[in-house]
Amino acid sequence: MSATVYVTRPLPQELLTALAAVCELRLASGEAPLSSRNLPAEVRDCAGIICLLTDQIDADLVAALPQLKFVSSISVGVDHIDVDALTARSIALGHTPGVLVDATADLAFALLLAAARRLGEADRFVRAGQWRADNAWSPDFFLGKDVSGATLGLIGMGAIGQAVARRAAGFGMRVLSWNRTPRAVAGVVAVPLEELLANSDFVSVHVARTQQTLGLLDAARIAQMKKGAVLINTARGGIVDEQALARALDSGDLYAAGLDVYDSEPLSPGSPLLTHPRVVLAPHIGSATAATRRAMVTRALDNALAAVTSRQMPYCANPQVYEGAPPPA
Ligand code: GLV
Repeated sequence: MSATVYVTRPLPQELLTALAAVCELRLASGEAPLSSRNLPAEVRDCAGIICLLTDQIDADLVAALPQLKFVSSISVGVDHIDVDALTARSIALGHTPGVLVDATADLAFALLLAAARRLGEADRFVRAGQWRADNAWSPDFFLGKDVSGATLGLIGMGAIGQAVARRAAGFGMRVLSWNRTPRAVAGVVAVPLEELLANSDFVSVHVARTQQTLGLLDAARIAQMKKGAVLINTARGGIVDEQALARALDSGDLYAAGLDVYDSEPLSPGSPLLTHPRVVLAPHIGSATAATRRAMVTRALDNALAAVTSRQMPYCANPQVYEGAPPPA
């Protein structure tokens, strides 16, 4: 036992026992996310970092930590990490795929339903005391969009996209999908992206944020969406052009949006999305259920334990670091 592992946020004590038995765990003293601009002295001699998606592990940070042997992120997405900078130094990167699929698909569907049926607006209306005897109900009161029988277009057919497709089937929706490498899924019709955008009443984004997906839904692609469609994003900000989305909502080309992720998080107070009544906003809570978060922490700690005990991480985002390595004992 000698390695020191830096943990950027307090984690449930009972989950840390196995790791604490084989290394020294050093908990960050502050709350500010780790970054190359905020690099506390206590991280400098650490062999490992257990971090969150708000920590920014960029090339400068990696260069400043010569002892670093592994990073384990409590997230499935790794776009807050310069994976190439880690891989170049054979630093293994752990992440947590699988365990947050259902929670994230549930939130995507919750946003879809909330946006379609104007739940954010309706909730604000009741709380503001605007629901009165003289307007209590009328045939056109708070009309929304039908979900049942509508067409849902899924951009990205990984595990989360497929889980959303299963939920959509329960709502009697027709499901179209687009994936960079086409993927056949029962009950889902794979189509070119343009066709998906032109024919979907609801579009839900489920691709990782990479160089290829940044700006995927730019102004031109948003303009290709069916008039009156609803856009849902629980994947990552930066994939959707937020300014173009706001303009399409203002012009009425799009009906509504349900968003959990943003270009910059927290969402800037100046964002036009904040003032649009038909945008349902959530603060990046796709995986936020107690069981899911516990499973994510467990998976991240399993990755760290493997690294500290010279084994291959079970969930490694850059497995090429193990190429040519001797098989685990
Ligand atoms: C959540 O967004 C994650 O990447 O885990």
